[in-house]
Amino acid sequence: MTTVDDPRTSASDLRSKEPVRFADVNGAVKTPPGAHFAKFDQLREQGPIHWGDASGNPYWLVSDADLIRDAFQDPATYSNSAATPDQPNPSYLWIPEMLDAPLHTKWRQLTGPLFSPGAVEKLKPQVHARFMEILDDVAPRGECDFVADVALRFPNTIFLELIGLPISDAALFQEWEFAILHTGAMGGDEAVRAMNEVMQYFAGVVAERRKSPQHDIISQAITWTIDGEKISDEDLLAFCLLMFMAGLDTVAAQLSYSVLHLATNPDDLDRLAREPELMPSAIEEFLRFYSFVTPGRKVMRDTELGGCPIKQGEMVYLPLVSANRDPKEFPDADKVILDRENNRHMAFGAGPHRCLGSHLARQELLVGMTEWHKRIPKYRLNPDVPITEHGGQIGLDNVPIIWDV
Ligand code: HEM
Repeated sequence: MTTVDDPRTSASDLRSKEPVRFADVNGAVKTPPGAHFAKFDQLREQGPIHWGDASGNPYWLVSDADLIRDAFQDPATYSNSAATPDQPNPSYLWIPEMLDAPLHTKWRQLTGPLFSPGAVEKLKPQVHARFMEILDDVAPRGECDFVADVALRFPNTIFLELIGLPISDAALFQEWEFAILHTGAMGGDEAVRAMNEVMQYFAGVVAERRKSPQHDIISQAITWTIDGEKISDEDLLAFCLLMFMAGLDTVAAQLSYSVLHLATNPDDLDRLAREPELMPSAIEEFLRFYSFVTPGRKVMRDTELGGCPIKQGEMVYLPLVSANRDPKEFPDADKVILDRENNRHMAFGAGPHRCLGSHLARQELLVGMTEWHKRIPKYRLNPDVPITEHGGQIGLDNVPIIWDV
């Protein structure tokens, strides 16, 4: 356990300060691109841990990389039963994200093989083919909104294929995804309504696969057992819901920040055109610098983090970008360095809940970024269209770009 020798972690002092409002760091308001990350940077400069208020619920926003890692690696104290500070008692369940050991471990054992490096390698031809279809459609236009036209479409089609669903349902999934992740509070009315609709949709799919199994993830999942018992339909649906949320929006957001960075940093774009072999390390650097996942945990016993006493039942908020831009961890942490060495970032989290889909995510990012830049090595922002960023799961609403055809 790390102790941060810092008078700024005295809980009584912190609790007497104006609390950091959750809505101010991750609310429903539209901001200029990068504003959420800048806010986390600013807080880290002020101190390693901050007292906050999330719609009346007390929470601690942790800014220091060591403390963030400590919390991830102590799941007995920092439970996943609630994953966002403004929802300490959620009415919904995401499997495996919101499970704790020992059940969580059993689910990871079942799901791990689906996303192993070997399984993901086998998917590569499909991933490549789906991206090329999108690229063939978009490249001749000379302009696009990279978010809507490429970044969201790509992981969406891969997900539908993995689950064995028709690509024609992509628009429906995109609508649900938006309602769940980007309408403000992640457990708000609109989000919960959309989650229920997703579950209803999957209930139909599960019933169908029980009758006639195919070669997809759901057909495999209905054969799984835990402690000798078949998995209930309810739990299968909670798994489908999480897969849907974890796999679509994340890859889309990462691609969008990467392309926005390159469109606004022509030196980096030129360098990648000259040295395309840098793409894998550039992708890791974009993962580090634009880490939009901001997990929460529920504290299960009175404890302390970096010398700051924390009470049972309070939430902690662990923004990965704050760890990944911590200057104690990375030299020139505030700069994007395409060939950064020893880039041991935490963009996929840490501890037992570390991203199950990281190999698939890296493959999608590498295929997408490599093929896009082979076909369209030079592009720029369309200056007439303002770009906005949303909270919830942080991401860009649009990235309007133009290129010569
Ligand atoms: C750039 C893309 C991605 C990023 C940055 C990312 C990031 C993360 C992070 C930080 C976590 C941990 C959350 C926590 O500690 O509470 C996580 C969990 C998870 N991710 Fe990803 N992810 C990405 C793509 C994917 C993809 C493509 C899939 C699968 C199709 C996926 C599936 C999951 C699942 C199932 C979990 C929950 C794991 C558990 O609770 O044990 N992710 N992801």
